[in-house]
Amino acid sequence: MKIIAWLRVMATVAFLWPVLVECAIRRYNFNVVMTNTTKLCSSKPIVTVNGLFPGPTIYATEDDNVLVNVTNSVSYNLTIHWHGIKQIQTGWADGPAYITQCPIQPGQSYVYNFTVTGQRGTLLYHAHILWLRATVHGAIVILPKPGVPYPFPKPDNELVVILGEWWISDVEAVVNEALQSGLAPNISDAHTVNGLSGPVSNCLSEGGYNFVVEAGKRYLVRIINAALNEELFFKIAGHNLTVVEVDATYVKPFQTDTILTAPGQTTNAILSTNPQTPAGAGGNFLITTSPFMDAPIRVNNNTATATLQYNGTLPSAAATPTAPPPLNSTSLAEKFYDSLRSLNSHQVPLSIDHSLLFTMGLGVNPCSTCYAGKKVVADFNNVTFVMPETALINAHFFNISGVFTDDFPGNPTTPYDYTGEQPANLMTTEATKLYRLAYNSSVQIVLQDTGMLAPENHPIHLHGFNFFAIGRGLGNYNPDQDPRNFNLVDPVERNTIGVPSGGWAAIRFRANNPGVWFLHCHLEVHTTWGLKMAFVVDNGKGPNEILPPPPADQPKC
Ligand code: C2O
Repeated sequence: MKIIAWLRVMATVAFLWPVLVECAIRRYNFNVVMTNTTKLCSSKPIVTVNGLFPGPTIYATEDDNVLVNVTNSVSYNLTIHWHGIKQIQTGWADGPAYITQCPIQPGQSYVYNFTVTGQRGTLLYHAHILWLRATVHGAIVILPKPGVPYPFPKPDNELVVILGEWWISDVEAVVNEALQSGLAPNISDAHTVNGLSGPVSNCLSEGGYNFVVEAGKRYLVRIINAALNEELFFKIAGHNLTVVEVDATYVKPFQTDTILTAPGQTTNAILSTNPQTPAGAGGNFLITTSPFMDAPIRVNNNTATATLQYNGTLPSAAATPTAPPPLNSTSLAEKFYDSLRSLNSHQVPLSIDHSLLFTMGLGVNPCSTCYAGKKVVADFNNVTFVMPETALINAHFFNISGVFTDDFPGNPTTPYDYTGEQPANLMTTEATKLYRLAYNSSVQIVLQDTGMLAPENHPIHLHGFNFFAIGRGLGNYNPDQDPRNFNLVDPVERNTIGVPSGGWAAIRFRANNPGVWFLHCHLEVHTTWGLKMAFVVDNGKGPNEILPPPPADQPKC
């Protein structure tokens, strides 16, 4: 009897074991502090997580519950966003300030509590208030569940590569000055790879980051664009990369010598090192990261450098060089984005409940305190989003009136030739307008660039969902012709999409996550100017279709 009972216990334990292993709790403590740095032409205090720039990497396995206790030890209000985490029924942990939470005030803490569901790969976290994300960011590495293999040969090791932008002066001062003048903020002074720029002309720098590798090995390179305002190319001299994943979704592998990522996007690629360490001084290879811009917009055209160093090579030995692509490499950019195809075919919504067309552009509004009485603004469908003073998700959940309206226009109110001649009136409407979606409705958004002030590539990021990128093109979207060429079979699934300069991109998603979800340009300068809006997704009927109440420690405004 006893033996049978014991065997039963054993069987139960054996049965539960994988479940226990799979649903681990990962706890992290983030103390956000001022840290003194002496690098890249300046010695200044910057805001960091735990004194690190970039911040610590968060590791999780798919299905893990992640708890990040964020303590704000700086004098700025603070929030952190887990960019690309779907936050299913955990909208309160998403992070954008005044959208899904009030900021964590100085001296306060908040525990971000979410489960990583249906995703594996690389994502990033970053501050989501003011311009603090310039230095408050880091990698999120999500491993497949135990026993679930990668759909490509298992890598021997991995490299986390975080690309960033660096200002010599204080970043908050840069944006404040721009807001006061109503003009564009200063461009950055350097780009960085894992916090280092490599040599910058006329300035003291610490040199570049060294990635030490072994010969004859396969590395999974996790590339994150954490820059504020610039799309970046990434190259390694003498090595090709095989792209296998973007935004934590697998893609059909393809080889390239140049990766392109927009701010907020992530790309995983396999790097196979040479079978043998090149003899003598030949074991160093230059890594470059440089901007892509094919519109008449001023960007920081400095190239940051790092080194791929085969173990045993002197770090001081000259590196095999590579030339960064020219700034306006449109065809290279198009080729890269066109190569992205989802590895598996997907359930792309085929019937559409909401067919939306959002134009994107800049504008000029009156501002009595600004330089020349005007300020630059940006908009979706001519609405410049005004940040509320109460978090939108609270206003939604507790039915607080007067915080937002849900009449965001699903289509332009005054259609025109968006990429042709522009209207003389550059003014926009300033309001806090949301677009309401019933639970589980299917949505198509055509994101249409305009020539208002200047055409530009806008990387648009949707919170709370991945979407399918079903089509893109130049000029104006044609609702009669273009849908015929939509890819509804293996479109890439992602959370941030580059809309080509003077063109359009079409995305589809299913609104199966109740809450309030931000949609915005991931160029921080455009977010600041108002190129943002939010969807409010109502509850469904089932218990798994509702937004639960906020956690007890949710910060107050
Ligand atoms: Cu990575 Cu709302 O942003």
